[in-house]
Amino acid sequence: MFANVELVRRFGAGRFGGSYVSESLVSVLAEVHEAFESALQDKNFHHSLAVLLRDFGGRQTPLFHAKRLSRQLGRNIYLKREDLLHGGAHKTNSTLGQLLLAQRMGKTRIIAETGAGQHGVATAMTGAALGLPVEVYMGAVDIERQRQNVRRMELFGATVHAVDSGGATLKDAINEAMRDWITNVGSTYHCFGTAAGPFPYPSMIKYFQSVIGTESRQQILERTGRLPDAVFACIGGGSNAVGLFSGFENDACVSLHGAEPAGKADGSNLHAAVLTKGSIGVFHGMRSLFLQNQEGQIANTHSIAAGLDYPGVGPELVALQDSGRASFSAISDDEALNAFEQLSLLEGIIPALESAHAVALAIKKSQEFAPESNLIVCLSGRGDKDLDEYWRIKELVQ
Ligand SMILES: Cc1ncc(COP(=O)(O)O)c(C=O)c1O
Repeated sequence: MFANVELVRRFGAGRFGGSYVSESLVSVLAEVHEAFESALQDKNFHHSLAVLLRDFGGRQTPLFHAKRLSRQLGRNIYLKREDLLHGGAHKTNSTLGQLLLAQRMGKTRIIAETGAGQHGVATAMTGAALGLPVEVYMGAVDIERQRQNVRRMELFGATVHAVDSGGATLKDAINEAMRDWITNVGSTYHCFGTAAGPFPYPSMIKYFQSVIGTESRQQILERTGRLPDAVFACIGGGSNAVGLFSGFENDACVSLHGAEPAGKADGSNLHAAVLTKGSIGVFHGMRSLFLQNQEGQIANTHSIAAGLDYPGVGPELVALQDSGRASFSAISDDEALNAFEQLSLLEGIIPALESAHAVALAIKKSQEFAPESNLIVCLSGRGDKDLDEYWRIKELVQ
């Protein structure tokens, strides 16, 4: 049974987004929306969030001029260092906002899903800091490739539930978290990991992640005296991308670019390039683009980056693609691995495999811009979590 909440925000002239959920979630989503709107009017909420972002999260994060890579490309690459945010990825911007909101709503239990484990880690550590118990759903495949993050979540006191259904990755973890929420709506807040899902999540998570765009804009203006020529982000569900893009979406002179995972370049056709290859459907509470068969069955995907391994995408990005405001390109596992190594060698920074997709796209597109152009890349997370996986792949190749 599907119901459609009225007065929800949609994107792309009403074609994307919405709130396609079972009846039991309608009232709790309305409760989240109401709590979010009221928090936005409350200066105490803004103050508490700003203090936590600064003192717990370590904001603001630097904008780093990657000089050696820039010299090689003949274009200036600036890295927005979300990898330096506490927890090691941008996810903390949103978990701090959402868990403060959950506290306001009087919720006593937090659930989350995670792919790369970064959103799980951010939720678990924020839960520990605010005294809220956390349970995280994670695909069995992702548990295997992101062991270190599972250990971190457990150290923060969170319970990690392994999900074996489907492809045992992020999509399946979201299914299980949604099932849990339907059963426990009274006590529980679902801390969603990306700017996707039913309204109000895409708008709310964009709001919490917009700090990336706001800071980047200020920092590049201070540093260079002008707006950048282009900005780049990787795309899982889209939260670091909409966060970065929000700082520049009204500046027509700044082009917006997203890097999707093209997966293996071996013709196996397993990928998660939703914006470039998906079709319109309804899943996980939203009308958006998905990788699906003709009957609407959602595909199992593959990306070397667990956090990008998702067959859907947030509705606002689909609208930005449709209007031509943003463009999206697919980056293969090999291209991402290459960027992972290049950034480590040239700049002394190991990017998350997710972020390496954005770096690879900036490298690839850089020659389309005039020499000395300024390009900002969102370095959404650090790569320590990916080292075991990196060495495993290296050994397979050798
Ligand atoms: C480091 C990192 N970057 C990017 C992503 C993709 O998420 P989103 O598209 O919501 O930014 C993830 C997801 O787990 C991640 O861990």
